[in-house]
Parts: sequence; C-alpha cells; structure tokens
Amino acid sequence: MRLSDQKVLIIGGSSGMGLATAKAAAREEARVIIASRSKAKLKDAADKIGADVKWYTVDFTDEESVKSLFTAIGAIDHLVIPGSFVTTGPLKELPMSDARASMDSKFFGPYLAVKEAQLNPQGSIILFSGILSRRPDKGSAILAAINAAVETLGKALAVELAPVRVNVISPGLTRNTGAFLGMPEEALEAMFDGAAQSLPVKRVGQPADIASVTIELMSNSFITGAVFDVDGGGLLS
Ligand SMILES: NC(=O)c1ccc[n+]([C@@H]2O[C@H](COP(=O)([O-])OP(=O)(O)OC[C@H]3O[C@@H](n4cnc5c(N)ncnc54)[C@H](OP(=O)(O)O)[C@@H]3O)[C@@H](O)[C@H]2O)c1
Repeated sequence: MRLSDQKVLIIGGSSGMGLATAKAAAREEARVIIASRSKAKLKDAADKIGADVKWYTVDFTDEESVKSLFTAIGAIDHLVIPGSFVTTGPLKELPMSDARASMDSKFFGPYLAVKEAQLNPQGSIILFSGILSRRPDKGSAILAAINAAVETLGKALAVELAPVRVNVISPGLTRNTGAFLGMPEEALEAMFDGAAQSLPVKRVGQPADIASVTIELMSNSFITGAVFDVDGGGLLS
C-alpha cells in the first residue's frame, strides 16, 4: 500500500476530484482527513469513503478558520487542495466582486492553507489549476489567470519549501464534480458530448482519472515542481 499510515488532508475532499482522491487514498491505507465548508456535504462524503475518515469544517478564505483546522489536526504528510469556488465570465460583464472572490478562493485559499500547514519533510503538497491557464476560452479570463498563478505558485513553493515536494494538477473538463451544479441536465450532457468529440481520447474526464494521478504524486518521491495535465489531450485539441 503506497500511503500506508500516512496522514493525508484533502481540503475540498467532499466533492468531485477531492472525494475521488479521498476514496483512493483510503484504499492505499492512508489516514484520510477531509475538510470543506459544509458539514452536510462532509458527512455524506465520509459515508461514501467508508474507512475511518475524519472530517473538519473549514473555510479556507478565512484565516482563523484555517489556523483552527491545523491546530486541531497537527502535522500531516500530504496536503491536497482541490477545493475552490469560482465564478467566471466575460471581462466586461463579470462584477469585480466575483473576480476578487474567485481569486480569494482558488488562489489565496490554497496559499493560506499551505502557509499554515505543518508538513512532514518527506511529505508533499498538491495544488489544482486547470486547462484554461494555457488554453483560455472566451469569457474565462479570470479563471485562466488564477490557474496560471496557481501553477507558478506550485513551482515557487517547490523551491521554497523543499524537501517538501509541491506539484500541480491541471485537469481538463471533468464530469461528476460540483463544477457544473445548477446547469440543466440536457445542456450539461450536450456540453460533455461536444467536448468529448473534440478530444483525442473521445471522452471527458472522471474524478477517478484525476485521483489516480494525485496518488502517484503523493507516493513518487522524485516528482516536484511539476504541472501535470490530466485533460484527455485537451491542450492539443
Ligand atoms: N470539474 C472540472 O471540469 C474542472 C476542470 C478544470 C479544473 N478544475 C479544478 O479542479 C479542482 C477540483 O474541481 P472539482 O470540480 O472536483 O471541485 P468540486 O466538485 O466543485 O468541489 C469543490 C470542493 O471545494 C470545497 N470548497 C469550496 N470552497 C471552499 C472554501 N472556501 N473552503 C474550503 N473548501 C471549499 C467544496 O466543499 P464545500 O462547498 O463544502 O466548501 C468542495 O468539496 C478545482 O480547483 C477546479 O477549479 C475542475
């Protein structure tokens, strides 16, 4: 078992890629802790993970909340941060408050969590960006820029926090996540079908596709400062 007895904290572990990572880490015999804002989502996720998973509420846009989390859980081996809540849209239409809130969540949330975490020197950190950093769509400027900032943060922290390893996963379009909640089912399926046709692998991603890479990045001690594209070839399409 690749993560036997290692303490793995997943902020954003109650949904999508974070939940899939928690399940995969539990299968690798890690001591899994999930954290996010909603108690109800965390309880539901813990039932699905099934092992002796622990959960804590945290809002990583709030400094006191993050400090309390790390005081409660102590040192950890791996910190995985797929958590984010972002609103994107055309530059001329997106309110500044939404653009700033997105940056506060997807960039400064992980930044703050890493700042407060106590990592075992043999451990690792995994941040999440997204394909838009290098293949922006119209109406995605804020998210494209946040993703690029996260990728650069990962590289800078790999230097600054060594020997702790720091890597970034850049997912492509992935279904069965919270990212598209509220979108009508028919429109969602049409979007996934259209995207699948344009991808070299002819399908969009599943959270488990991302989770398997997350486990590899936690367990492979020779990888740091990398950005891993898990996008079905999306950068090429
Ligand atoms: N899905 C895609 O197609 C896609 C594509 C490219 C990149 N990505 C990126 O990949 C990562 C994972 O995406 P996903 O779709 O799997 O996410 P998701 O299913 O939407 O889950 C997001 C998680 O973040 C938590 N969260 C949100 N705000 C938080 C806060 N302030 N403090 C703590 N936890 C918070 C949520 O739980 P609570 O609501 O309980 O807080 C939830 O557990 C994200 O960075 C996303 O931007 C996703």
